[in-house]
Amino acid sequence: PYVDTKVILENADKNGYGVPALNINNLEFLHYIIEAGVKMNSPVIIETSQGAMKYAGNGDFRKGAELFVKMVKTFADEVDIPVALHLDHGKDFEYIVTAIKAGYSSVMIDASEHPFEENMKRTKEIVRIAHAAGVSVEAELGQLAGVEDEAVAAENVLVNPEEAKIFVEETGVDFLAPAVGTSHGAFKFKGEAKIDYDRIKKVKEYTKIPLVLHGASSVVPEFVEIAEKHGADFGGAKGVPADILREAVKCGINKVNTDTDLRIAFVAGLREFLNNNPKEFDPRKYFKLAKEYTIKVISDRMEVLGSAGKA
Ligand code: G3H
Ligand code: 13P
Ligand code: NA
Ligand code: ZN
Repeated sequence: PYVDTKVILENADKNGYGVPALNINNLEFLHYIIEAGVKMNSPVIIETSQGAMKYAGNGDFRKGAELFVKMVKTFADEVDIPVALHLDHGKDFEYIVTAIKAGYSSVMIDASEHPFEENMKRTKEIVRIAHAAGVSVEAELGQLAGVEDEAVAAENVLVNPEEAKIFVEETGVDFLAPAVGTSHGAFKFKGEAKIDYDRIKKVKEYTKIPLVLHGASSVVPEFVEIAEKHGADFGGAKGVPADILREAVKCGINKVNTDTDLRIAFVAGLREFLNNNPKEFDPRKYFKLAKEYTIKVISDRMEVLGSAGKA
């Protein structure tokens, strides 16, 4: 069924596991996520960026939002696993209100590039509107920048746990994304992958709400290799390995945002298939391996985060 994201994440918080939040732009990725969720008996959070809303509406984000809600509900209603639809990185008031009105289960207000007080003010306003509509809210504190110099990074871009406590109390936000050393995309770390576990623990202790890890893709070497074997160039790609994710979940992370891993698995399968089948031009056929790899990467994540078997 189609559920409130809050139900999924409060269960995850209470029982100490993480749930993948998976980005979609189109129908196919929705199929793959639902199929993986059913296969693994895992709850799923489907999320769309503002760019995805615009893309799906062929330039009209309102149309895109309505389409996403209809698509997700159509598939959610016929399966036994909990399925939620979330707006990822809502930055513009219009997009956020559109998602709320369209029937999204939850929205993110990402005002993290603004100073603390302004972030609080904007978040509070969205919480007021969203809660009145029965929609839960995620906000972000700190910046998801690459962490080269740890001391400098800690002061400038990572979440301040004391601020997190005040922020959550003042805004009434349901979930919080603290910046703890990850970043978006396929090139997260120049050196060794690492995140600030102590900071996650402190934020959890001070806020006691479900926490969100952004930029959490593992950039799975197996799929990077397949893609590169068939023409891709992802030199220097590096993600957050599974053991770091497991530890992050132990420290209090419950929602694990994942987009890049799906994109890489898909493109690996697509490139391999097209290379091996030069005569094929039916998308239902040339997406076959892309589908298989994308479902594999999602299923593995459900296992790693502990959401498998929890639907
Ligand atoms: O956090 C960003 C997500 O990966 C979505 O990215 O804006 O390219 O859709 P996008
Ligand atoms: P990745 O780029 O690591 O998949 O992160 C996605 C994300 O944080 C979406 O909000
Ligand atoms: Na989000
Ligand atoms: Zn993100």
